[in-house]
Amino acid sequence: MSVVHRILTGDRPTGPLHLGHYAGSLRSRVALQGAHHQTLLIADLQALTDNAGRPAHVAANVLEVALDYLAVGIDPDRTTIALQSQLPALADLATLYMNLVTVARLERNPTVKAEIEQRGFARDIPAGFLCYPVSQAADITAFRATLVPVGDDQVPMIEQTNEIVRRVNRLANADVLPECEALLSSTPRLPGVDGRKASKSAGNAITLGATPEEITAAVHSMYTDPGHVRASDPGRVEGNVVFAYLDAFDPDTTAVTDLKARYRHGGLGDMVLKRRLIDVLEIHIAPTRARRAQFAGNLDYVRAVVERGTAIARAISDETANDVRRRAFSLDSIAAA
Ligand code: TRP
Repeated sequence: MSVVHRILTGDRPTGPLHLGHYAGSLRSRVALQGAHHQTLLIADLQALTDNAGRPAHVAANVLEVALDYLAVGIDPDRTTIALQSQLPALADLATLYMNLVTVARLERNPTVKAEIEQRGFARDIPAGFLCYPVSQAADITAFRATLVPVGDDQVPMIEQTNEIVRRVNRLANADVLPECEALLSSTPRLPGVDGRKASKSAGNAITLGATPEEITAAVHSMYTDPGHVRASDPGRVEGNVVFAYLDAFDPDTTAVTDLKARYRHGGLGDMVLKRRLIDVLEIHIAPTRARRAQFAGNLDYVRAVVERGTAIARAISDETANDVRRRAFSLDSIAAA
């Protein structure tokens, strides 16, 4: 990849980030920073779309997400970390884009559809929630991003963003905004310890700074293969959570291939596998945990990082919003034409 991309992605501050975020997207963000212009948004406004009743909870998690970023190795000198709610241009763009998107299109967005079901909104869907893909399109386009590292559940958001980009460019009769593409992880989506979708609220995820005790407890509770009763029984690798995590985090892929063969054949007990995974995760998590503790002891520094990043992001997003207002929506000031 020799092109220099503008990268934009974000996370809702509703709890600490977990290994699924790492395997799905944080890992690539760390790898890509420096070679590209990268901005990470702490998406507190988006978090409010399904947490309107708990604003203090969202606010309290802003610095947690910033800590997670720094702990996994996001370097604030090479990546801009910004707070969404402090960037008024994003709301400005979202309002304009709202006119380019039908309610039917929003209701058809597969991510929105799935999340409406998960959250049990039934008919009581907050309008802000239904419209969050539009706001996310504002996030992405405000930075004229061309690459968006996200989990595969976010692909419909990228498609909707590109539809908006094409409409804006058609209105302006010029390429005001670039289309973007999703950067997906090479490993499949990491399940929660129970084999279901990993989520902060379900409590089935392993956080980026988990303690050794938390790692051990989580791995012991992992769903394997209910048909694999004795070590000598043949076992299933597909759907087996322990193997999903080994695939994502064990650097010795040859050993993992070999373990899979032995597990399938029969003769390899779950405990042997789980002990290996505990070691692998501890090696992976220990440095993150240590850095996280260090930064947590210096929250003034973390706040300064987010303030500095937000100021940089504000300049960029203001410039884009002005350009879009003027060129696609004829919203110049009342100055003479
Ligand atoms: N919707 C994303 C998530 O739930 C978070 C997000 C907010 C985002 N703004 C974004 C992702 C812009 C990519 C680009 O994980």
